Amino acid sequence: MKVIALAAAWVAACAQLAHAEIVIDRMWSTTYDYSKVQELSDPQIKFVDGQALTASVNVTAAASVKSQQYDAIGIQVQENQLAQLVDTFGGGVTDSVAITLQDFKSKHPKDYDDLLHLLFSQDAEWHAKGGVGLNTVRVPLGACDFGAAPYTYDDTEDGSEDPKLELFTIKKAPKLWQTLHDIVAIHPGLKIISAPWSAPGWMKDGADETQPLFGGNLKEGMEEVYANYLVKAVSEIKQQEKLDIYALSLLNEPQIQKLEYPTMKMSATQAITVGKLVRTALNKQGFEKVKLLTWDHNWDNTEYALQVLNADPTPWDGTAWHGYAGQPSSQKVVHDAYPDKETYFTEYTEVTQYFSEPYKNMKNTARNLLIGSIRYYSRSVVLWNLVLRKDEDGFTTPHLPNVCQNCNAAVLLLPDSTDALAAADPNHTKTVAEAAGDAKKDKRRRRSLWRRADDVKPDTTTQELKPQTGSAVAGGGEKAEAIQAKDVVDAKKTGTNSVYETSLFKRSSDFSVLSHLSTAVRPTGASKEYSKRIGVSSTDEITELGGRLLAQAFRQDGVKPGVSRFSLVLLNQNDHYETDVWENATAVIAFRGQIANVTTLPGLYTLSWEAPTVDTSAAAKTPLPAKADGAAADAKPAS
Ligand SMILES: *[C@@H]1O[C@H](CO)[C@@H](O)[C@H](O)[C@H]1NC(C)=O
Ligand SMILES: *[C@@H]1O[C@H](CO)[C@@H](O)[C@H](O)[C@H]1NC(C)=O
Ligand SMILES: *[C@@H]1O[C@H](CO)[C@@H](O)[C@H](O)[C@H]1NC(C)=O
Ligand SMILES: *[C@@H]1O[C@H](CO)[C@@H](O)[C@H](O)[C@H]1NC(C)=O
Repeated sequence: MKVIALAAAWVAACAQLAHAEIVIDRMWSTTYDYSKVQELSDPQIKFVDGQALTASVNVTAAASVKSQQYDAIGIQVQENQLAQLVDTFGGGVTDSVAITLQDFKSKHPKDYDDLLHLLFSQDAEWHAKGGVGLNTVRVPLGACDFGAAPYTYDDTEDGSEDPKLELFTIKKAPKLWQTLHDIVAIHPGLKIISAPWSAPGWMKDGADETQPLFGGNLKEGMEEVYANYLVKAVSEIKQQEKLDIYALSLLNEPQIQKLEYPTMKMSATQAITVGKLVRTALNKQGFEKVKLLTWDHNWDNTEYALQVLNADPTPWDGTAWHGYAGQPSSQKVVHDAYPDKETYFTEYTEVTQYFSEPYKNMKNTARNLLIGSIRYYSRSVVLWNLVLRKDEDGFTTPHLPNVCQNCNAAVLLLPDSTDALAAADPNHTKTVAEAAGDAKKDKRRRRSLWRRADDVKPDTTTQELKPQTGSAVAGGGEKAEAIQAKDVVDAKKTGTNSVYETSLFKRSSDFSVLSHLSTAVRPTGASKEYSKRIGVSSTDEITELGGRLLAQAFRQDGVKPGVSRFSLVLLNQNDHYETDVWENATAVIAFRGQIANVTTLPGLYTLSWEAPTVDTSAAAKTPLPAKADGAAADAKPAS
């Protein structure tokens, strides 16, 4: 009996090898209505013989209800077009995030521990529960817009200069370091990317008269002192907190001068000088591995980064980008000029007032970052604040006055989760009664102060990138009447993954977007490597990032001996340009001459399957044509 069974198994195994059946066995779903936030299933969809679509098939909504035939869109996966490794994803840990989390910790230590595991644990057990497995945080060096008070690591009382940095201290952000230690305890491999928002006031001129950290420029002649300040930050963080900085930018957003929070302008000429000094000093002090990134600002300017790299590329490891203005394809301009330099996406948040539901936030972020930024060589998706407290009004706190009150965060802590007083008294210096009074006042003030369009970060990206909007709600500007944020930022009740939808916190669209990327690229099985982007095309990409079904594909080798896992992120944005007519779409996925049909509701999906690894040594030498000019070639069906 046993022998026969073994023989049968052997025969079956041989048959399988000859016709290795490829099956989509994992699917993570986030539906437009948030009936599923991040839900895992095994759809067992087989790749079968069939014709790849070379043009979309359109079905009218009326017909599709009757016939169950949906718009069909050809998705072609080009496994041998290997591009960059995508291995960096997470969000900002600002003072606001640290204050909020430490407050949560003191009130609900067990839930805090669960939440950090949900965000950062790399264990399969947490992944299966819907954990994101983040591996990156972005940490401001000194204060940014999200915190309790403006400060730098070297403030002097009277504005006098401290060129030897004798007053330097990183201890002004104690909650930040404690928070990072808590995260590193869960994920020791955490990557910390960092940037200051401003130099100390005494290194600047032209700033706000009463608050030298707001606005102004790096003074001519202060380049060397500023470089020393940056390197000292890296070195003190290592010595005192035992934390390694993974990547450093000279300055967050060097071309804005806002007056409401720490900002500073630094010219490209200054960046060239400071960059060289920083690189030299880092190397001398044993920090060769710290990556030095230039720009760290919006997609609407490629000149700055090019000017810096043209002067001398050697100090730099790459370029960092934000998504509040311009188009992700800007990344390609700099990449093409310097293909050996790395590309990182380091900041974006949705301002929730403009969007009446999580789907729109998710769609914008997924389209511009998961599809757009990664298509244009980004190794990372790093969103802005990772965790904020959402108070009863729906606004997120804490932050400096006149700073975005309804910026999204991946996780929103609900009012009961933290001490409500903490937001009003981040330093814990007031008596309970005083703080309670402030909290009430602050709430009244905020209630009467619905944010106007010009109070929040500009949202030009969304407007520019949107496909023809027709009668759709505009992405910003005039249409920005007050929508109560509490109706806006909440993901509705989740589906089966409800364990981590607690009464204390909610997962937002940012959480979903990061989850999908993580699902697609984190090491699985025996692989120790993150995935690489591979070629993919959609027959429905009518305009750049426009159309009903957008795709991004990844490949990870070595998940088992001789086996690769392929992941496909699909953004079904078949909502008829936001007219709220939700229509299913079928992706006809072509892979190795076979097809698999997957029907989805509007939403975000990550599918994956295993297949024997094929030798790509020759193919790997063929550079991947970037989508903007290679879309037509990409769309050809595989032979
Ligand atoms: C499907 O519709 C889109 C836009 O609605 C159009 O651009 C495309 O040509 C249509 N495809 C077919 C096969 O009719
Ligand atoms: C917190 O402390 C800082 C530094 O001492 C101070 O400047 C700031 O005003 C304090 N913030 C609040 C809200 O009390
Ligand atoms: C997949 O969908 C396409 C387009 O609707 C259809 O022509 C094809 O027969 C389907 N194939 C399978 C295997 O279902
Ligand atoms: C759309 O597709 C989903 C998933 O396949 C299915 O459950 C649902 O019934 C479809 N909706 C319509 C209106 O056909």
